[in-house]
Amino acid sequence: MKKMWLCIVLCMWTLVGSTQNASVHLIPQPVDLQILSGSFLLNSQTGIGYNRPESRTVAEMLAQKLNSATGFALKAENNQNAVIQLFLNEKPNSQLGKEGYTLEVGSQKVVLVANQVAGLFYGVQTLLQLFPPEIESKKIINGIEWQAQAVKITDYPRFGWRGIMLDVSRHFYDKEAVKAYIDQLVRYKMNIFHWHLTDDEGWRIEIKSLPKLTSIGAWRVARHGRFGERAAPKPNEAATYGGFYTQDDIKEIVAYAQARHVTIIPEIDVPGHSMAAIAAYPELSCKKDTSTRVSCGARFSEWYGNGTFKMLIENALNPADEKVYEFLDKVFTEVAALFPAPYIHVGGDECYKGFWLQDAGCQALMKKLKIRHVEDLQGYFMARLEKILTAKGKKLLGWDEILEGGISPGATVMSWRGIKGGIEAAEHGHDVVMSPTTYAYLDYTQGDPTIDPPIYANLRLKKTYSFEPVPEGVNPKYILGVQGNLWTEQVQNFRHIEYMSYPRAWALAEIGWSSKSGRTWENFVQRLETNFKRADAAQVNYSKAVYDPIIRTYKKADKLMLELESEIGEVDIHYTLDESMPDNFSPKYSQTIAVPEGPVNLRVQAYRRGKPIGHLITLKRSQLEERVGKF
Ligand code: ACM
Repeated sequence: MKKMWLCIVLCMWTLVGSTQNASVHLIPQPVDLQILSGSFLLNSQTGIGYNRPESRTVAEMLAQKLNSATGFALKAENNQNAVIQLFLNEKPNSQLGKEGYTLEVGSQKVVLVANQVAGLFYGVQTLLQLFPPEIESKKIINGIEWQAQAVKITDYPRFGWRGIMLDVSRHFYDKEAVKAYIDQLVRYKMNIFHWHLTDDEGWRIEIKSLPKLTSIGAWRVARHGRFGERAAPKPNEAATYGGFYTQDDIKEIVAYAQARHVTIIPEIDVPGHSMAAIAAYPELSCKKDTSTRVSCGARFSEWYGNGTFKMLIENALNPADEKVYEFLDKVFTEVAALFPAPYIHVGGDECYKGFWLQDAGCQALMKKLKIRHVEDLQGYFMARLEKILTAKGKKLLGWDEILEGGISPGATVMSWRGIKGGIEAAEHGHDVVMSPTTYAYLDYTQGDPTIDPPIYANLRLKKTYSFEPVPEGVNPKYILGVQGNLWTEQVQNFRHIEYMSYPRAWALAEIGWSSKSGRTWENFVQRLETNFKRADAAQVNYSKAVYDPIIRTYKKADKLMLELESEIGEVDIHYTLDESMPDNFSPKYSQTIAVPEGPVNLRVQAYRRGKPIGHLITLKRSQLEERVGKF
């Protein structure tokens, strides 16, 4: 009897809880959210007001966003009696900081309060997420009640650095694509756009004093398909594939980002990853090979495991040549003038030093500096570079390899080879941005590797979501925040940028914004599915890999054992091992299976309430054998 009562109470609690929250599925999760009774109904007469002229842009952005889906003609006005009020505090509320806000949605009015315009901007993003998903539509949608659940929210970010890096070197995306990406990121309160502007496959930023960087360095021969396996350029083959941003384009994008409270961090990746620059100016390298071409993704390196590798084509600047520092001074003078951010990212990753070792000038420099290891030449190079940046009022930021040659106390480290570089950097008093491959690499496949185009590794949404950017024992004041990195060796178009980014970028946005204790995977998944609907309405692409089962195998004695797991609830996994196509009457997975002997194929399909969701996955016995112990 006691048990039955408990069950009734629990069931009622669950019901009340879920209906109460039915329309409030915010990402990132606010610090404090109270669901109130009733809702606010937007109509064609709703006024939007603000109390200070600097809030006009954000109020107008809200009006424009609401108008495009509703077809209303709402206007933003300097008016403190409007139904939707955007209010800047005269006296700052210390709890809210620079980016926080309070939002009260009632049946009669909406009051958004912040200390600074950035806070109003983030409050507006929250308010938009309270309306039905169709509010994201770029076309007018009729027949919808534009209701927002009544709530009281107090919200502010956990970290000041909530970033995404986009690599525009491996493939070039035009300025409209970059703006669209920024628009998508700010919807989830991201505030840093790290722009990887140069690499072996293309130099993408106009440097007026070095015109060949873009006349030659921005163009490669057209090749598609798997990176590293493409055919090398033929002699005299025209370099027709690529592009670059003019300085006017850059200024336009920087202003666009600023209006959306996004700081753009430009990256010029040196001394390695510089094949495009060397194709333009071969004299900057050790070999000075004038036949160097911008890489098209043909094989150029050999990897030996544990991160060691050899470059078959030279792609590093020569640290012993003064001309290189003159070149860098010119580049960074123009870059520093274009970007208001306090940091410039100078790369520093994966620099192969084999050509330095063979170079007489580098040998002589090592002797002069009493450097025993060639690795330390990179430390010398970075110290020279930091001086150049300091003279232009900028701070040096680099990938965690910059720690290896010794760096100045003022340098900031982006930890990508796991979190150990970040821990070491913080222990030495450096600021750190956490963006480890293990949680934050958006170029990795998201679901079963047989579904997504194969690339270096796999990273499921649940793993990304489990990331905690402040490692145990590290002083949190050194961890600036978190960043996802989208490398684009195999990302050829904007739809695929979206597909690779979402939903993992939303998980990272939540890790960067929400309090550590205020978020759980189970709760995130509920909110995630509503955000899929929002993305559908906005015509934004995303991966549905979260619906696909995780397929693991292991050996027990000589038997091949199979485990299937769903990342999310309310899913039944049906499978076959008998050459039939699975449906929801096929065996339902409930416990570990011993795979029968013979050349069997596994077919797996997830179902929710009798309907297939996600992909049908088929694996041969040999593939099941290959993945023993891997997932
Ligand atoms: C990197 O992924 N090479 C920073």
